[in-house]
Amino acid sequence: MVINKICCIGAGYVGGPTCSVIALKCPDIVVTVVDLSKERIGQWNSDKLPIYEPGLDNVVKQCRGKNLFFSNDINTAIKEADLIFISVNTPTKTFGNGKGRAADLKYVESAARMIADVATGNKIVVEKSTVPVRAAESIMNILRANHRPGVSYQILSNPEFLAEGTAVDDLLNADRVLIGGEDTPEGHDAIEKLCWVYEHWINRSKILTTNTWSSELSKLAANAFLAQRISSINSLSAVCESTGADISEVARAVGLDSRIGPKFLQASVGFGGSCFQKDILNLVYICECLNLPEVAAYWQQVITMNEYQKSRFSAKVIESLFNTVTDKQIAMLGFAFKKDTGDTRESPAITVATTLLDEGAKLHIYDPKVEPSQIMDDLTHPVITEEPEKVKKAVSIYDDPYSATKGTHAIVLCTEWDEFKTLDFQRIYNGMMKPAYVFDGRKILDHDALVRIGFQVQTIGKRLARPSLARIWGSCNQI
Ligand code: UDX
Ligand code: ADP
Repeated sequence: MVINKICCIGAGYVGGPTCSVIALKCPDIVVTVVDLSKERIGQWNSDKLPIYEPGLDNVVKQCRGKNLFFSNDINTAIKEADLIFISVNTPTKTFGNGKGRAADLKYVESAARMIADVATGNKIVVEKSTVPVRAAESIMNILRANHRPGVSYQILSNPEFLAEGTAVDDLLNADRVLIGGEDTPEGHDAIEKLCWVYEHWINRSKILTTNTWSSELSKLAANAFLAQRISSINSLSAVCESTGADISEVARAVGLDSRIGPKFLQASVGFGGSCFQKDILNLVYICECLNLPEVAAYWQQVITMNEYQKSRFSAKVIESLFNTVTDKQIAMLGFAFKKDTGDTRESPAITVATTLLDEGAKLHIYDPKVEPSQIMDDLTHPVITEEPEKVKKAVSIYDDPYSATKGTHAIVLCTEWDEFKTLDFQRIYNGMMKPAYVFDGRKILDHDALVRIGFQVQTIGKRLARPSLARIWGSCNQI
């Protein structure tokens, strides 16, 4: 095989970890990760990597400077590479046709144009970013329309299934690797070359090869299915809170059915992250464009339910605090969209914080990994607020949970960080205003122990008081 050099355009959450693991497992290949951002590349070359991911520091330390390089010299890396990953961001469009739903492909397009401008010889171009179905075709159109003599391209789709917080493990022990390509001899040859890269550590039986569109759609489908499970369990959490069933018990009973399985059934304040919402919106948009409104509406409901869950939780906080949080001090524990990451993209904490701020609350925020500047950016972003100065005055950020909770009326837990489970809640209770409230948006704390300390506790999918059967029967009779 002739893959000696790989270039990855985009040194983000996908490109960085993926290429670091490729470098670790393929010492015979030189991997160069490039990005437009000087700051990002500087961080990849420093002791403090730009993203927090368990185990990643170790992998980068082992390979950096040997067969793994981070650089802003995009042209040289493209010229020298046999295979180029496109791992740039594909955010949801915020303007124009498809606004709020379609993926914005401007970064993918600019990467494709960079390749078209400088590439020489034969290149395999691999789309790694999650892209709408048929994006490979668009990349190919750009590359072929700018064709120069002596240059040829094969485009592959090789979506990444890693989850943040477990990226290194997901990459090392992937459930499957998916590679889509053209059904031509050249296409098959390119697929084989990429298979060879992965076969350095992934068993061939786990490498699936498909046509390009199946590969692109499978990525959207996998994320849509995962998000759908969370919305399904979250919808039932509302039923539990109104009846007295416990969503954890329901999830366990349901998940023990081997056809359903136990994973992704943890009820929560809502899902976040850069992928689920974006990919489902993308799928909805594609269905609308294909004149499949019923299919579009079906998947849209997964997002609608997630929005409902976030607003239901925020409303519960306000209602419990005597229907007003104006000038109340509220501690927010966790701001990342899930544990073990510093990423806040689409974090449910942003929605909850914004609702509480709109109602006049003062927030005291602590997260073990999110940078304070990121929290402020998220809460003062023009899409979120028209009054950034007011928000800045109402938000304080702390570097430990005890200071963050001191003197507050309530704790709102938004991220399931393990360290929150072992906090000294008696000490926290002693420092809080009374009555002291805990709203556990991740259902991870020991609620009975908190109640024994004296806290008023509310959580997702479980009512701590007995349900009023009269109310249930009353409303059923009305129906
Ligand atoms: C997801 C997919 O899992 C991954 O395969 C894809 O490549 C990218 O998108 P990621 O967004 O990093 O990964 O994290 P994931 O673990 O899927 O969690 C997404 C959100 O769902 C988080 O906010 C998480 O807290 C929430 N979640 C997850 C739940 O609320 N309940 C669950 O049971 C599982
Ligand atoms: P993801 O989660 O998909 O990896 P990120 O936003 O974390 O997305 O990373 C995408 C990276 O791609 C960013 O660092 C951005 O600067 C980079 N990028 C975007 N367009 C280009 C481009 N044309 N050339 C090089 N890097 C790019």
